[in-house]
Amino acid sequence: MCGIVGYVGKRDIGPDVVLNGLRRLEYRGYDSAGIAIRYNPGQRTDEQYGHVIENWREVGGVDELYDSMPETVLWESNCAIGHTRWATHGEPSRHNAHPHTSMGRKVTLVHNGIIENYETLKKKLIQEGYVFESQTDTEVLANWIEYIWDNNTVDFVSAVRFALKDVVGAYAILVISPSTDSVIMARKSSPLAIGVGEGEFIIASDATPIVEYTKDIIYLEDDQLAVIEEGTNLRIMDLDATEVDPNIERVELELDQIEKGGYDSFMLKEIYEQPDTVWTCLRGRLTEGEEPLMMGGVESVLPQLLRANKIFIIACGTSWHAGLIGKNLIEKLTRIPVEVDYASEFRYKDPIIRPGDVVISISQSGETADTKAAMEMARERGATLFGVVNVVGSSIARMSDAGIYTHSGIEIGVASTKAFTGQVAALTLLAIKMARQLNSITDNDYLKLKAALKHIPGKIKSILADSEAIFEVASRYASEEYQDFLYLARGINFPVALEGALKLKEISYIHAEGYPAGEMKHGPIALIDENCPSVFIVPNDSSYGKVVSNMQEVKARKGKIVAIVTKGDELIKTIADDVIEIPETEELLTPLLTVIPLQLMSYSIATARGCNVDKPRNLAKSVTVE
Ligand code: G6P
Repeated sequence: MCGIVGYVGKRDIGPDVVLNGLRRLEYRGYDSAGIAIRYNPGQRTDEQYGHVIENWREVGGVDELYDSMPETVLWESNCAIGHTRWATHGEPSRHNAHPHTSMGRKVTLVHNGIIENYETLKKKLIQEGYVFESQTDTEVLANWIEYIWDNNTVDFVSAVRFALKDVVGAYAILVISPSTDSVIMARKSSPLAIGVGEGEFIIASDATPIVEYTKDIIYLEDDQLAVIEEGTNLRIMDLDATEVDPNIERVELELDQIEKGGYDSFMLKEIYEQPDTVWTCLRGRLTEGEEPLMMGGVESVLPQLLRANKIFIIACGTSWHAGLIGKNLIEKLTRIPVEVDYASEFRYKDPIIRPGDVVISISQSGETADTKAAMEMARERGATLFGVVNVVGSSIARMSDAGIYTHSGIEIGVASTKAFTGQVAALTLLAIKMARQLNSITDNDYLKLKAALKHIPGKIKSILADSEAIFEVASRYASEEYQDFLYLARGINFPVALEGALKLKEISYIHAEGYPAGEMKHGPIALIDENCPSVFIVPNDSSYGKVVSNMQEVKARKGKIVAIVTKGDELIKTIADDVIEIPETEELLTPLLTVIPLQLMSYSIATARGCNVDKPRNLAKSVTVE
């Protein structure tokens, strides 16, 4: 949610360094973008302050920003900060776009997060004569820093430090000033990474804009501030000015992981990566035969998990759907009750957490504000925190007592695909491991599930090999006459129905609802007609017969039916309008297969309708506000 990039160092920023970095972060928000370039005295001189800062902002993405900039822009500068925005305070407009500059021009900054007490600060600033040109909380922060700077005999760093002490909320900020050559950055609850190159620093919301230049990265901690002086000297401190030793990590991210690699979108690339990403999640953990599963991250809290009276799963969006599947798996295999909550609701429902309960947080990004806030509350109430997270070293990973990394690799498409199957694979391993320890699974079932799990990546591959047939089916439903879809399933595939509907909504803007197939007759059946297709997920499992009856109910009302079935199902071919086959597997593992055709269908319908699948309107990948 909002991407920030900054550069200071030996090279000229040119049109690439900061703008390409912002392009890599556009998945975090793309309703407006901006860049502030700082020139050295001599290059361009400001009578009042010394340095000149030029600020360019535009509605839309980074390409629109670049197109809006005049040819005369001087790209020979060694310092710039940029931003790509997901609007919270104020509509997407030039005025509301970042960077924001204080009224007296002394402070220019970009910000990711929310300043919760901005109204109070703004009121005070207005009393002091400040005038605002935007509706944003960020402009308030820029002015607040300037106000503190002007009214105390302090330097730039101290002004930022003091100002941040007055701030309630979340922020990752990059701040520059025309009166000094320092670049200041700070974080609280929003991620910020500093790439440390040879004579240069690239600062960004995550590692993706950095790895092109250096793999040595410092992840700033909450309540830390860093300053780069004269483009070379980096100091990190807390808000009381106590200096902290920098902890430089070597990141493994390769450039080809963050490029499209011949696919026309990140989403399609990520869908196709799933045989590998699911295998990467299983590899090393899924042992042979009777051997216990190797899950190092789980061991330290395994006793708590096995003794838990209740397990809560908290997550948002697609991760919440993975959580529902996790509930099915854990309850079926271990008989421990599991409650799945939206993270955004959890905090406010006064949840009944008892000593010994375990909270599992599921998050692709590991930065989702709602999930983090729910975890904080769970911790206060004494729960053990367990994380199922994709991004290594992210906030949720660090807040958890223990956990499992899904190892899905960076996911750039805003609509989650490979991260979802990674989460489901990780939860499957966890449930099997717990069941084995509790003896709540027979030897035979243990061996059967492990063997079947091993074949899942190959089976995903075989579904993908048939994607042309799936696109062909999707093409029959892409026209404007279909504005509502139902996704129906039972049991462990009901969450897949929710996920299928969400995927279609997110990227094609078609209204879609996931419903338990048996519940359809209690309401949604009223929607069924020839223009409201139903997508049934009906593998050959324990609820097969019942779902087939539900399908007949739709057919009797002239509803079109697309059915996801197990290979060789002849009965459903006689009922459904279109059938997509998946290979046979154990019932508990079917979500890992049934979701694949749904991802491909949504992709295909959205592209046929001319939608940008990687950057759906109004969405952001990493939602760092509550
Ligand atoms: C956003 C994204 C969704 C994602 C959700 C939870 O809304 O657009 O794709 O499922 O956040 O994100 P997380 O990173 O916690 O899994």
